[in-house]
Amino acid sequence: MIHLKTLNKKQLEAWVSSGDYKKYGFLPITAHRARSHIKNPKATPDQTLLILAFDDDQLAGYLGCFPDYFIKDGKTFRYAWLSTLFISNEFRGKRIAQNLLNKAFEEYQGNIAITEFTKEAEGLYNKMGVFKYIQPKQGKRYYFRTDLEHIIPAKKPGLKSLQPVFRLADSVANILISVKNTFVKKPEFKFEVLDKIDQESKIFLSKFQSNRNAEEINGLIDHPWVLEGKTKDEKYLFSSYSQQFRYYWIKIFNKNNELVAGALLLVRDRHLKISYVFSAAGNDLFTEFLEYFIVKHKIITLTSYQADVNRRIEASKSFPAIHKRDLERRYMFHQNLIAHLPQSFEPRFQDGDGDCAMT
Ligand SMILES: CC(C)(COP(=O)(O)OP(=O)(O)OC[C@H]1O[C@@H](n2cnc3c(N)ncnc32)[C@H](O)[C@@H]1OP(=O)(O)O)[C@@H](O)C(=O)NCCC(=O)NCCS
Repeated sequence: MIHLKTLNKKQLEAWVSSGDYKKYGFLPITAHRARSHIKNPKATPDQTLLILAFDDDQLAGYLGCFPDYFIKDGKTFRYAWLSTLFISNEFRGKRIAQNLLNKAFEEYQGNIAITEFTKEAEGLYNKMGVFKYIQPKQGKRYYFRTDLEHIIPAKKPGLKSLQPVFRLADSVANILISVKNTFVKKPEFKFEVLDKIDQESKIFLSKFQSNRNAEEINGLIDHPWVLEGKTKDEKYLFSSYSQQFRYYWIKIFNKNNELVAGALLLVRDRHLKISYVFSAAGNDLFTEFLEYFIVKHKIITLTSYQADVNRRIEASKSFPAIHKRDLERRYMFHQNLIAHLPQSFEPRFQDGDGDCAMT
């Protein structure tokens, strides 16, 4: 008989510190992700963060909730992102995922949003019949270096034995690309690269409307979901470790030494995302800085849904991309969340909103 158990901040903390979360065949959360959830300033003490499904004493699956809110005309609209849904192989097809989802709807009165879902999960969400797609974001992935060593075996596992050949081809191509990129110079305008948002940037950011403020962005830098380490946690399906996982806070100044743009960049194994960008007419300078950053950090790809930055990249003659492709980021909102929000409400999501800044 399946029974569900919900955990709020305090309960999650107690469960993780007891070590009990490690006693099953798979991990429903990692200790560092739990810590991050517990520190999430947008979650209230009573909100559910993790729902566990048990078959007697055996853990069958779990669903993570990541609380968030919108502020519109001084009013707070609380909701949660669905983040991590997993059912152990032996329990699949028994409607346990649907039970977990229904429990999350009940806990949040249907104020539920989802993005970055797999095809398999999207089928399931559609089947629930309560989600509607809101306006998707159009984006681009830019490629700067060849990575045949990883791309080909991922698409055609039968060719894994040829990996050393692909590695050699990558080295030759990337040496040529590096030679070409020596023409990308350090920008002449002033910029700063920091680990976190500083006081000057905080004041600058307070002029912008954003779903995350400076403290909240610093919070996610302090409590990451992914830690740097060589090993992946085999018992946890979602992101836990990467060889490289680093946030950079970028400040861009104009020639009068005024701060004109601030951005949070996330680099994971040399793949770059622009989680947040706040710019007072500074995106041209920011885009020029990006070229330099990409070359300096030997970035392999940039994934960006930042429409204005992408427009400037497209217009740039010196942007060092060797290939690009179109992307779409889809969002599903539960019909109750749509009904609860003001009619003309636009979420104005940046790339990092929801749990996207976390992985
Ligand atoms: C996706 C997953 C959570 C489903 O768990 P589950 O407990 O087997 O799902 P349920 O039994 O509750 O529901 C499956 C239902 O969705 C339907 N379904 C599954 N894939 C579907 C698809 N692509 N299109 C339409 N319906 C689909 C099934 O037909 C089934 O419907 P039924 O109950 O009427 O037979 C599970 O397969 C899993 O853990 N996958 C790996 C992790 C993952 O992808 N997580 C999502 C991350 S975003």
